[in-house]
Amino acid sequence: DLLEQIRYLEKIFTVDGAKLKEVTTQFVKELEKGKSVEGGSIPMNPTWVMGFPDGYETGTFLALDMGGTNLRVCEIELLEEKGEFDIIQSKYRMPEELKTGTSEELWEYIADCIQQFIEYHHEIANLEVMDKIPLGFTFSFPATQTYIDNGVLQRWTKGFDISGVEGKDVAPLFEAAIQKRKLPIRLSALINDTTGTLIASAYTDDTMKIGCIFGTGCNAAYMEDCGSVPKIASYNLPPDMPIAINCEYGAFDNEHYVLPRTPYDIVIDEDSPRPGQQAFEKMIAGLYLGELFRLVLVDLHDNKACKVFPGQDITKLRKAYSLDSSFLSAIELDPFENLSETEDHFHRELGITTTKPERELIRRLAELIGTRAARLSACGVAAICTKKNITTCHVGADGSVFNKYPHFKARGAVALREILDWEDGVPDPISILAAEDGSGVGAALIAALTIKRVKAGN
Ligand code: BG6
Ligand code: GLC
Repeated sequence: DLLEQIRYLEKIFTVDGAKLKEVTTQFVKELEKGKSVEGGSIPMNPTWVMGFPDGYETGTFLALDMGGTNLRVCEIELLEEKGEFDIIQSKYRMPEELKTGTSEELWEYIADCIQQFIEYHHEIANLEVMDKIPLGFTFSFPATQTYIDNGVLQRWTKGFDISGVEGKDVAPLFEAAIQKRKLPIRLSALINDTTGTLIASAYTDDTMKIGCIFGTGCNAAYMEDCGSVPKIASYNLPPDMPIAINCEYGAFDNEHYVLPRTPYDIVIDEDSPRPGQQAFEKMIAGLYLGELFRLVLVDLHDNKACKVFPGQDITKLRKAYSLDSSFLSAIELDPFENLSETEDHFHRELGITTTKPERELIRRLAELIGTRAARLSACGVAAICTKKNITTCHVGADGSVFNKYPHFKARGAVALREILDWEDGVPDPISILAAEDGSGVGAALIAALTIKRVKAGN
């Protein structure tokens, strides 16, 4: 019966404390391997962000944020007062078809959005006759950088699949579209959203040691000493000079060595544009939570002796990626004993009517998927802290899952406690807190730091 199905789902989706520790131990090894000359699955990309801001950076900057769900253009003014800034911004939808379109369409769209922003906030348009405005571009994909203002896309992640960009430096592609429109902009820094989050968080809280994204994708950045990163040894940098590393740890365990994958995780991977990539991300990030949930329900309808939604037309449910993580959030938040909001959602969005036992299975499934995501997410943070011997710090986090998914923060905190064996009753020595607009302010700060360094001749 359905209860039996629930027990089965609990078995395959539950990750206990011992497994979390095993995952973390392997994670530490992979982070280390990623820094070596030969490299590993986790890219551990040097970002050329060489230290934290001191809070006294000033100037006006543009920031372009190409995240998972939106495209955002910001104008940031870093003020004289320590840690203070003003920000204005416009959000643009990132059209779904653009994610699998052509390179040209992507850069044209981005340039259009920047142009619209500049025309709307016309005080910047007046600057056309003046110096070009420095822009920090948050390009949240794995990129190989030889300096802060360039980046060769290693591979698309998060379901993007735009031909002709992988293996290319994205800076000239972006700049060509900007120049075509004669926009008064100079690309000063190409950054990752995690690096932006790290730098912006540290700007206002100097106990922030890690920047994380729990959103459409998942990833983290932290500071290393140049001397601990063998793959940059040839640059002969001072060994104690800090450098931010964008881990790109969504790629953890691409060998499928330790992560407890279910048959549904395997389907997600195989049907994705990049099978074999981003193994960790595909189990925990926002892009995949609704899809996991959908795959389980379709399987329970088609293949199990005790079916869900027997005799109903589930055509809408069969559409890949038709449910996003907000669908699961809504189910987890259904306040009613008889789960009537869940019934409404299924009826309205999928044309399916549900029985009470089906709704109980649905609710439990959402909890299982959401809990697994939060618990496994904690392994990445625990691994960085273990590797760097950090016993107490703040971690700055951003992204739709962190900010909006119910209980994600609390579940992650419980898992961190289990992994790191904190005593009961002691306040969390490491806590993950919401970051203040890393991709806007962080990009501006990094652009400011870069200009300062260039002027100083470093
Ligand atoms: C946003 C940041 O708040 O969060 C982006 O500005 C980041 O830079 C994004 O990529 C991540 O969340 P999501 O849910 O949009 O992938
Ligand atoms: C994906 C990207 C990474 C980004 C993360 C969060 O993992 O590869 O660059 O930081 O998503 O947006």
